Amino acid sequence: MGRVVYAIREFKAGDLDQVININRLCLPENYAPYFFMENYKRFPHSFLVAEVLDRVVGYVMGRVENSYSLLKTFKNGHIISIAVLPNYRRMGIGESLIKSVEKSFKNYYGVHKLTLEVRVTNLPAISLYRKLGFRIKNKLMCYYQDGENAYLMEKLLT
Ligand SMILES: CC(C)(COP(=O)(O)OP(=O)(O)OC[C@H]1O[C@@H](n2cnc3c(N)ncnc32)[C@H](O)[C@@H]1OP(=O)(O)O)[C@@H](O)C(=O)NCCC(=O)NCCS
Repeated sequence: MGRVVYAIREFKAGDLDQVININRLCLPENYAPYFFMENYKRFPHSFLVAEVLDRVVGYVMGRVENSYSLLKTFKNGHIISIAVLPNYRRMGIGESLIKSVEKSFKNYYGVHKLTLEVRVTNLPAISLYRKLGFRIKNKLMCYYQDGENAYLMEKLLT
């Protein structure tokens, strides 16, 4: 497929079925509908979709987590899941989703850094994250249910 016009917008409840379909098609880590809806209710600004002519073709779901150090609270924007339908890949949609969620995390929730986990063999995703400034922070052994290791990747925001 060549170039395509897409829009990035916040998730709404009516997108749930399409997001669940994309998640099941693209990733081994699948979640129950309530998990998506709970995240949406708690952090509506960091759950985004990419749309082409009224069809959802990709999504990114994030949540805010707090960490504490020396009387200070640090807010971490955790990217829980991202996927783009196979026919719509390599068009910049994944990159737009991450850049948009980074902005939302910063503007709505004041996060200090972004984090995510990725399978060590998932080279497309690792390349995308590196391109956008994420760095490998740690290796998490047997992180996934099938025993595969993960990289914990992180991007500090200024
Ligand atoms: C990872 C994923 C979201 C990328 O989405 P995408 O829309 O194809 O990504 P983009 O077109 O925005 O690519 C941006 C950059 O990422 C990198 N990239 C993306 N796909 C790549 C691939 N197959 N091989 C190498 N690099 C790749 C490139 O640096 C690319 O920039 P370039 O096109 O200028 O070279 C998509 O491949 C996907 O849904 N994969 C299955 C689900 C998944 O693995 N999610 C991540 C779980 S942690």
